[in-house]
Amino acid sequence: MKLFLDTASIDEIREINRWGVLSGVTTNPSLVAKEGQDPDIVWKEILETVDGDISLETTFTEPEAMYEEGLKLAEKAPNAVVKVPMIPAGLEAGKRLTANGIRINVTLVFSPAQAILAAEIGAYIVSPFLGRLDDVASDGMAMLRDICEIYAVQGYQTNVLAASLRHPMHVVDAALAGADIATMPYDVFTKLVKHPLTDAGLEKFLADWNKLETELKGEA
Ligand code: E4P
Repeated sequence: MKLFLDTASIDEIREINRWGVLSGVTTNPSLVAKEGQDPDIVWKEILETVDGDISLETTFTEPEAMYEEGLKLAEKAPNAVVKVPMIPAGLEAGKRLTANGIRINVTLVFSPAQAILAAEIGAYIVSPFLGRLDDVASDGMAMLRDICEIYAVQGYQTNVLAASLRHPMHVVDAALAGADIATMPYDVFTKLVKHPLTDAGLEKFLADWNKLETELKGEA
């Protein structure tokens, strides 16, 4: 399973990118707006920094305008993936974009039925939102499992990207479910590496090592 960052913050992206495990970035209009800068500058920096798929989201809701915007977003770089929302206009514009060889990510997916539609238009990525579904007392992970199973049974090639992940167990369970990609905020990414036994173990190893060095110096 590939790991993506769900952010538009170049500082967060640069830090995690140094770990060597970052395969892409997802942005959305809210995340880009949080940066308070010209979106073109924000996207350019991300596209140049990460060697992987970068999702840039359309902001029009009419099919023609969404399609035109998608063409412009795709032109920004070879690693740009155009995000369209799961609405009829998104399907229409998305289908036209895929017909032009543009890779699309169908976003705001909350049901297996919607995921089938995304696959049928030839989407490169489908993004089921787990955390937001959990927020309304539904089972986001169950939805993801169903989508992964349907895609396997049907032989759909669309990549399943588990989105709206809120904690490390969401990431682990998404991997078990068979998701192709998991995107997560910076704080979830940094929690993946943490374990108190790792910290305690390292502290003891280094303390023992330093003790030995002190003893050897004393003997010299
Ligand atoms: C995915 O591409 C979305 O940007 C994202 O995962 C939404 O997550 P949220 O529910 O934490 O805003």
